[in-house]
Amino acid sequence: MRARWLLVLVCGACGSEAVTPKVASPPTITNAPTNAAPNAPTNAAAKPPTAVPQTPSPDYANTGEFELNKTFAPRLLEIAKQYTKWMRVDERPNVAPLLCRAPLPSDRGTPSQVRISKATASKSPHGRKLYFLYAKHKHTYLKLTATSNNAVPVGQAIVKQAWHAVPATKPAASPNARPSFHYLPPPIRIAKDKRGRLLTTGKQADLYIIYKLAKSTPGTDDGYVYGTVTADGKTVTSAGRVKRCMGCHDNAPHERLFGLKR
Ligand code: HEC
Repeated sequence: MRARWLLVLVCGACGSEAVTPKVASPPTITNAPTNAAPNAPTNAAAKPPTAVPQTPSPDYANTGEFELNKTFAPRLLEIAKQYTKWMRVDERPNVAPLLCRAPLPSDRGTPSQVRISKATASKSPHGRKLYFLYAKHKHTYLKLTATSNNAVPVGQAIVKQAWHAVPATKPAASPNARPSFHYLPPPIRIAKDKRGRLLTTGKQADLYIIYKLAKSTPGTDDGYVYGTVTADGKTVTSAGRVKRCMGCHDNAPHERLFGLKR
């Protein structure tokens, strides 16, 4: 009889553990910079609990890094909500042709082209992924690689919308084949890798975000904040001085940015 009770008690414990798993604090949260604000600002506290996950997202989990300075989570969520309205950096909408002249090829706008990350797969969360870039100040961002102008304004924010690459079967249609105007040309989602294989966008991966604050802002990399947010824009999975991002971006040619690859 006593043995049966014991069995019930033990199984009861297993059951409750499975329903409400113990949530261990991510190890590197304690590594958050000591000069960062110890308490999240009040607007951070008002955010739903999904603002700060208890475990890294699957896209980020295998990088072995998980740094999350909650101070920066509200802005990262805001950027994740707004960025598609900024437009992709390399696209230009179609222009309505002026009266009394035939439409020129330049009226047709330019579609965005998905790009393959140049970052080494073993070292970077970008590796083997396709991406589109969005920038809050699009023209300033484009100038980085078009001229030798390295200035990045405070307030700039760049979102790298990453996609898992899957084999594509047919080449992209020529953008000039589209006859109509007044709309944004759809992005080209097919790209060729170094070995000439065609790839296209599969499942969407995390959003990789970098934004710039004043240089002296505590908890930033000379003003730069790095972060990752899940593809649905709802959960911040890393934020602040994320060491893994800094490992590469500290050596980038334009302050902490690589700029758009041509
Ligand atoms: C191994 C090096 C490497 C690491 C690690 C890395 N990046 Fe990048 N990142 C690049 C390169 C190279 C580019 C240029 C585009 C490309 O080829 O992927 C880039 C581009 C970007 C861009 C576009 C803005 C620009 O011009 O630089 C963003 C945003 C970005 N990375 C965010 C991040 C975040 C956030 C992390 C950390 C979670 C991170 N990156 C980690 C190498 C890296």
